[in-house]
Amino acid sequence: MASDAVLLQNVTYSYNLGDSHRVDAIKDLSFSIEEGSFVALVGHNGSGKSTLAKLLNGLLLPTSGEVRIFGNSTLDCDKIYDIRKSVGMVFQNPDNQMIASIVEDDIAFGPENLGVEREEIIRRVEWALTKVGMLEYRKGTPFKMSGGQKQRLAIAGVLAIMPRILVLDESTAMLDPKGRSEVLKVAHELNRQEGITVIHITHFMEEALDADRLIVLNSGRVAFDGAPKEVFIHYDELKKIKLAVPWETQLAISLGRVGIDVGDGIVKEEELVEGLCRLL
Ligand SMILES: Nc1ncnc2c1ncn2[C@@H]1O[C@H](COP(=O)(O)OP(=O)(O)O)[C@@H](O)[C@H]1O
Ligand SMILES: [Mg+2]
Repeated sequence: MASDAVLLQNVTYSYNLGDSHRVDAIKDLSFSIEEGSFVALVGHNGSGKSTLAKLLNGLLLPTSGEVRIFGNSTLDCDKIYDIRKSVGMVFQNPDNQMIASIVEDDIAFGPENLGVEREEIIRRVEWALTKVGMLEYRKGTPFKMSGGQKQRLAIAGVLAIMPRILVLDESTAMLDPKGRSEVLKVAHELNRQEGITVIHITHFMEEALDADRLIVLNSGRVAFDGAPKEVFIHYDELKKIKLAVPWETQLAISLGRVGIDVGDGIVKEEELVEGLCRLL
């Protein structure tokens, strides 16, 4: 039986602030993530998303409980190197994830540090840039690029290390709608074409729609966990934990409840209008 990509068993994480003062950021969390799935992890500010992300690659170790990546515990010192390589992380700010002034040097940085052979590095750089649709910019300089392009480069930099899990921690948060959709498209392609397990952390509910699974975090615990459409149905409760389901989705669900079926998975005005027009 294939092991889960991620397994959390009763994981608690507390930040120790001294003077016996602590913040419980993650509280007794247990769930698993299937290899090859695309999971959206959503929660308002302070719900514990980034803490969870850091627990996944061993940047933080659980205060109690255990985090397993492909069966290996982050508490196992012998495995932490493998875990760091298998969990690639991309963060929020497109401007502080680049090291070199030439795109291809930047992408090569990760594998170079791992001692990967020259030929293999060249192959990986080309592959990673192709995967994020940035091969033509290989000789360019990252600093002049758009936010969406920079985040795609950040993803390529992580890909060059050949991770099996990609964690995007609010990597779309600082981007304009075009940049957001570019990054999301790349993440979905990597999931489908390369079988990389994607954990997309976001506070944009509509970005969760195409995920296989939506996990909603609130105060360090799972509030909802299921197919996005099934979770969206609870928009009243989601509102209480400061999460907004697109109004188009809310309206479509409400209409469905009174027998007016305008279609599934509506997040945009055009889709709602289309659904209504079809009925008329
Ligand atoms: N370095 C830290 N020191 C102390 N408390 C922290 C630290 N980082 C996060 N926290 C606290 O932990 C909780 C979860 O934070 P975080 O994981 O960053 O949530 P999110 O990413 O969902 O905004 C919050 O209450 C936050 O204030
Ligand atoms: Mg965060």
